[in-house]
Amino acid sequence: MNMEFGLFQTRGCKSSTSWICLMFLCSMLCMWTNVECWSYYFSDTTMNWRNARAWCKEHYTDMVAIQNQEEIEHLNSWLPKKSSYYWIGIRKINDVWTWVGTNKSLTAEATNWAMGEPNNGKNGQSMGLSEDCVEMYIKRDVQAGKWNDERCNKLKTALCYTAACKSDSCLHGDCVETINSHKCDCFEGFYGDKCEHVVHCNKDEITVPDKGSVSCTHKYGNFSYDSSCQYACQEGYQLSMPSPLRCSASKTWSEQPPTCELVQCEKLLQPESGSMKCSDPLGSSSFKSTCVFACDEGYELAGSTSNTLQCEASGRWNASQPRCAVVRCPEFNYLENGVIRCGDDAEIRFSYGNTCSFTCEPGYQLVGPSSATCTSAAEWSEQVPRCEAITCQSPEVEAHLITRCSEPLSGLRPNSTCSFSCEPGFELQGAQTTQCSEDGQWIEAVPTCKATTCPVPEAPTRGQISCSSSLSSPVSPGTPHPVGTVCAFSCDEGHELQGELSMECAHPGQWTSRAPTCTAVRCSLLEAPENGHINCSTSEPVFNSQCSFTCNQDFTLDGHELLTCDRHGNWTGANPTCQAPSSKVAAITGVAAGGTALLSGLSLTMWILKRLKRKATKFELNSNSDIEVPPQSYKNSIDSLI
Ligand SMILES: *[C@@H]1O[C@H](CO)[C@@H](O)[C@H](O)[C@H]1NC(C)=O
Ligand SMILES: *[C@@H]1O[C@H](CO)[C@@H](O)[C@H](O)[C@H]1NC(C)=O
Ligand SMILES: *[C@@H]1O[C@H](CO)[C@@H](O)[C@H](O)[C@H]1NC(C)=O
Ligand SMILES: *[C@@H]1O[C@H](CO)[C@@H](O)[C@H](O)[C@H]1NC(C)=O
Ligand SMILES: *[C@@H]1O[C@H](CO)[C@@H](O)[C@H](O)[C@H]1NC(C)=O
Ligand SMILES: *[C@@H]1O[C@H](CO)[C@@H](O)[C@H](O)[C@H]1NC(C)=O
Repeated sequence: MNMEFGLFQTRGCKSSTSWICLMFLCSMLCMWTNVECWSYYFSDTTMNWRNARAWCKEHYTDMVAIQNQEEIEHLNSWLPKKSSYYWIGIRKINDVWTWVGTNKSLTAEATNWAMGEPNNGKNGQSMGLSEDCVEMYIKRDVQAGKWNDERCNKLKTALCYTAACKSDSCLHGDCVETINSHKCDCFEGFYGDKCEHVVHCNKDEITVPDKGSVSCTHKYGNFSYDSSCQYACQEGYQLSMPSPLRCSASKTWSEQPPTCELVQCEKLLQPESGSMKCSDPLGSSSFKSTCVFACDEGYELAGSTSNTLQCEASGRWNASQPRCAVVRCPEFNYLENGVIRCGDDAEIRFSYGNTCSFTCEPGYQLVGPSSATCTSAAEWSEQVPRCEAITCQSPEVEAHLITRCSEPLSGLRPNSTCSFSCEPGFELQGAQTTQCSEDGQWIEAVPTCKATTCPVPEAPTRGQISCSSSLSSPVSPGTPHPVGTVCAFSCDEGHELQGELSMECAHPGQWTSRAPTCTAVRCSLLEAPENGHINCSTSEPVFNSQCSFTCNQDFTLDGHELLTCDRHGNWTGANPTCQAPSSKVAAITGVAAGGTALLSGLSLTMWILKRLKRKATKFELNSNSDIEVPPQSYKNSIDSLI
């Protein structure tokens, strides 16, 4: 293939047609430039599109890229009507018609399609024979110079060109091939045939702003196209417009010169619960402004590393805006056997000013404060208290009290109960049971034991009572008589005891017997003597009663005129009698006997009895008759004695 291709090349170059072409070009097209010449060539054989392009690129510059109507007309008139079908440098790439030399897609205006084209084969398309290459009709009867899309493997004549533009054809522009020559399409900012001149901008418009400076760079010449003037400001100032001024192709600067403006920082806010003091040496919230923050009591600075903020040249404060956060105290842990109440709002529970209260569970008592408040120093005003188990003091046990408690005495707690009783001989004064209350106090007072007592006995009328306790100590009247007390009774003279002599106070407070009574002693009832009268002091003959006796007229009283009832219930003498007047002696004897009785005295009596015995012996009396007879003898003897 390459060999074959080489053959075409040789033949094409040396053919007379080629020569004619060269001759023609030199005479007609390159009249005024012989160095840079735009020239056309064609092959003398046909080949497919790919090979045609390769052939053009190998020997010339590339396949012809039709650029304008003038060129088309030129080719149509100049090229031989050899085959009428020439491949040109247009192909469908990715479904777009493209200039293969520049890879630029065709614009609608640049196309030169024949009528009804491009039709992409229409009938052949379904068979995969799509028409992706472009041929030009030359010297055809109809549609001469027009384009047709064609299958790329068809054999056609290659149409090539040699470019007129050289690398240095244009200084600041694109070289464009023309039919007979080339031209320079100058880049922006340049002019002249070879684009060798650059446009200038007004240098005087570049002014230096207050607090600023300017520095220009020149790409193509002093203050010329694409010169750039970059402005800068002193520290703390910023450009009103940051981009540099550029000299444009229209000889004007892209922008007005900027100014230098004082850097502004974001306005700071006075924090809630705090204060802010700012000083502004250059301007409000501007470069070098400083603000000092402080917080109210109970609040502390937060959200910033510093309490003094300065506005920096960057337009930022050197630290972030501070807040005033409420002071927080350490959180309370759990209170053993108790409850800590700080409110429901989690935000303020442990914050400045809030108060927590402490309470203990039932059976526990608070040791320490009942509440604590969070202070501005982030500390609680009080220490956390403890909840101590409430204990009850063991009831004070008195003598004789027997105590029984639900718990050992050392472990008495609220709800513990104690019951009480007394030793024998004592009785409980107060509650029988008591319970320890929630606050550790005994609900009922501890009772006492009192000795059991008997009713205070009264002395009997006409009698005395004398009591002594078991301890043999006398018990004074009016005071209680405890168990064991013994009371003894006695009666006044002339009275006798009716009942027990003594009684004892026995459990449970009862005397062993009733108290006795004292009754007056009674003498026998006396009767008036015959022929006489009796006159007693009392109707009843009791102790100390006196009875006097009198006899009727002419009768003489024989015996005691007055008898008294003694303490033993005996009359002081025998009942007297009233004697008729004849019996004077007897009466005297009676009187004598009475007198003898009055002369009390055992020795005298004994003496009389001895004398009587001697006389009795003298009268030889036996013992039996002694009782009946003696009165006579006595009378005589006594008379004689008197
Ligand atoms: C056009 O495209 C082809 C393939 O994409 C590439 O090889 C070639 O260099 C390109 N030509 C130009 C002038 O960009
Ligand atoms: C630019 O200006 C300087 C002095 O003003 C001059 O020396 C220099 O030649 C000038 N350059 C051009 C390219 O005009
Ligand atoms: C910010 O600037 C002020 C004033 O110079 C200074 O007192 C403060 O410490 C600075 N803060 C920081 C975080 O650098
Ligand atoms: C005491 O008894 C009452 C009533 O039964 C009960 O509510 C309370 O919790 C008890 N207290 C203790 C300390 O056990
Ligand atoms: C009895 O004695 C009292 C006092 O001795 C005397 O006043 C009274 O008259 C006497 N009565 C008679 C009936 O003799
Ligand atoms: C009193 O009389 C009684 C008999 O009536 C007698 O037994 C007693 O000895 C007498 N008492 C005195 C002190 O005379």
